[in-house]
Amino acid sequence: MEKIYRLNDLEKKIIETLEKTNDLTALEELRKETFGKKGIFNQALEDLKNLAPLEKQQFGKALNLTKEKIDLLIKEKTLKLEETKLEQTLTQKKPDWTLPSLPFYLGKTHPLTLVLDEVLKIFSEIGFSSVHGPEIETDENNFGALNIPEEHPARDMHDTFYIAGENLLLRTHTSPVQIRVMKKQSPPIRIVAPGRVFRHEAIDATHSAVFHQVEGLAVDENISFADLKGTLEFFNKKLFGKEIKSRFRPSYFPFVEPGAEIDISCTICKSQKSNCPVCKGTGWIEMLGAGMVHPNVFKAVNIDPNQYTGFAFGIGIERIAMLKYGISDMRLFYENHIAFLSQF
Ligand code: PHE
Repeated sequence: MEKIYRLNDLEKKIIETLEKTNDLTALEELRKETFGKKGIFNQALEDLKNLAPLEKQQFGKALNLTKEKIDLLIKEKTLKLEETKLEQTLTQKKPDWTLPSLPFYLGKTHPLTLVLDEVLKIFSEIGFSSVHGPEIETDENNFGALNIPEEHPARDMHDTFYIAGENLLLRTHTSPVQIRVMKKQSPPIRIVAPGRVFRHEAIDATHSAVFHQVEGLAVDENISFADLKGTLEFFNKKLFGKEIKSRFRPSYFPFVEPGAEIDISCTICKSQKSNCPVCKGTGWIEMLGAGMVHPNVFKAVNIDPNQYTGFAFGIGIERIAMLKYGISDMRLFYENHIAFLSQF
């Protein structure tokens, strides 16, 4: 039993020294003294040989426990000292201000935003102010008030995301903003309304379920189709260049009468090539839909169609960006690849 008491003393002594040790070299010394070949524990093992079996068993057990405990304490202390040393070097080391800095990447404006900004700027030059409407709309604003009653075949053109159980949907075009503006404001009105629109489309190179439009609306006394033509010709020339020609073709949208689709002369082949992949040899590229505000739309918002006339148009932003930058796949706009986006 005497040996065990000595072991306790030994443990106490080692722990005291350990507490006083404050550098890694001294700690390594202590480790050697305790666990080394000629260290304290190996000597104790030697002593073990000369003991009687029962004593041997008890002493052996106590010895192992002490060894484990001291080993753990030394490891802990090593970690702690290494940490302090690292902290000291970090605080003492002066930074080298002459080193070259890490590269800094400045973000770029998304091509759709570039086009959108340009479109809004062109219209602001001729007095159109920019307004916003919500992306979740009522069935009435998106269709009913726009002269597209339930069961109207034009609804088939808009594959709509409906919100279950409510009379709400994700707007399929920006035209409901016309309704919102005319309900709140009396003529004269001259607005453009940019924003996201949603259609339940299969996604491919020229279709997306989420895309962007800019709506235009002008209402006043004596607004004529000539005003619509002048406005859109001005816009097309500003956006694509002075040499660009515009063409108006009759078309149908329930909320305008007459309605038109507007083409521009091909920006790629300048209407010269029969095998042009963009205009398909026709020399013309479809740009936007427009027309004179239908009297039924005026009636739905309590504007007197006998006193006022107006025009409206809807521009697809993706389409313009694709033309302007020669992009053939719409999906590139939404994939967020830095290599693609940093080109604009
Ligand atoms: N809202 C129509 C569409 O999304 C475009 C349009 C707007 C047509 C205004 C005429 C007048 O297809």
